[in-house]
Amino acid sequence: PRRVVTGVQPTGALHIGNYFGAVRRCVRLLDQGEDLTVFIADLHSLTVRQDASVLQRNTLELAAYLIASGLEPARCVVFQQSAVPRHAELCWALACVATLARLSHLPQYKEKAKLYKEVPVGLLLYPVLQAADVLVYGGTHVPVGRDQLQHLQLAAQLVRSFNHRYGAALPAPQPLLPDDGSDRILSLRDPTKKMSKSDTDPKSRVLLSDPDDVIELKIRKAVTDFTPHVTYDPESRPGVSNLVRLHCLAADILPEEAVEEADGLNTAQYKAVVARALVRHLAPIRERARRLLADPRVIHAALQHGAARARARADTTHERLARLMGTAPL
Ligand code: TYM
Repeated sequence: PRRVVTGVQPTGALHIGNYFGAVRRCVRLLDQGEDLTVFIADLHSLTVRQDASVLQRNTLELAAYLIASGLEPARCVVFQQSAVPRHAELCWALACVATLARLSHLPQYKEKAKLYKEVPVGLLLYPVLQAADVLVYGGTHVPVGRDQLQHLQLAAQLVRSFNHRYGAALPAPQPLLPDDGSDRILSLRDPTKKMSKSDTDPKSRVLLSDPDDVIELKIRKAVTDFTPHVTYDPESRPGVSNLVRLHCLAADILPEEAVEEADGLNTAQYKAVVARALVRHLAPIRERARRLLADPRVIHAALQHGAARARARADTTHERLARLMGTAPL
């Protein structure tokens, strides 16, 4: 059976890259009846220094937005990663089959490591924990954005090494990529880069928590090019095409339909159309999240329920693996 597993870091509010690239696709998978496990990757966030109260607040807000987006606890397993210690425990076992050479050559590691004089070991282990997140549920499919592909390749390699060493039969997780371009939403300020939580320019991304007028402003300021009419041409016109893509994702239409709707409009006029489509799609989610956050008890209960279900599933995998590794309790 297919088991779909994915995670999102609680580093500030979700942007529409996270939303269309991962969260909304999870909602679609749920609609198709898939078995989905989604967690808030708070342990991953510890690779950078966090203020404890800010991290807790971000975790709560992310939970609210995940639920508000349609990942309701009645339909899927939603929880906080740290509430299931088996993730960190399996990370250790996987770290014992991972090699330093392999981990230190991952491009994301090299990039992040450059920012430190003294590199924290957690940065190196980051993708090992990510592999554990999936394997602890026997995950077969992982919906993610394109930026996570190398991490999943590593997970597949770790599975091979682990299975070989212990005679285990963990499935190698596969990335689930969409065909609508939602796996790489671009920065609104520099369409050669992906939209990112860590970009210093807040106008580079639309947040799920942005009020309508802020969404309109950010789309109006989006960098396009000097051709006035609207075409969908991701290679040669990444800026405009990113807007067409967002329009399509928000209004659930195809690029041909979006371009037809833009017929006779210049890019400035078209931006108002895109902003309107985004507002129409995002405002109800923001409103649901706001209501959830007004009384966080519902969110707390949902996370606890999710964690209990996740722990039970993780325990099953753990018992099997512990027997193979010789670490089952005597
Ligand atoms: P994170 O929190 O950075 O991002 C969450 C999800 O959003 C996707 N994403 C994008 N998709 C399209 N366009 C973009 N511009 C864009 N930016 C981000 C990411 O690919 C991701 O799917 N390491 C992960 C969290 C994680 C995880 C896991 C994921 C921890 N354990 C296990 C899958 C399986 C991360 O930092 O995602």
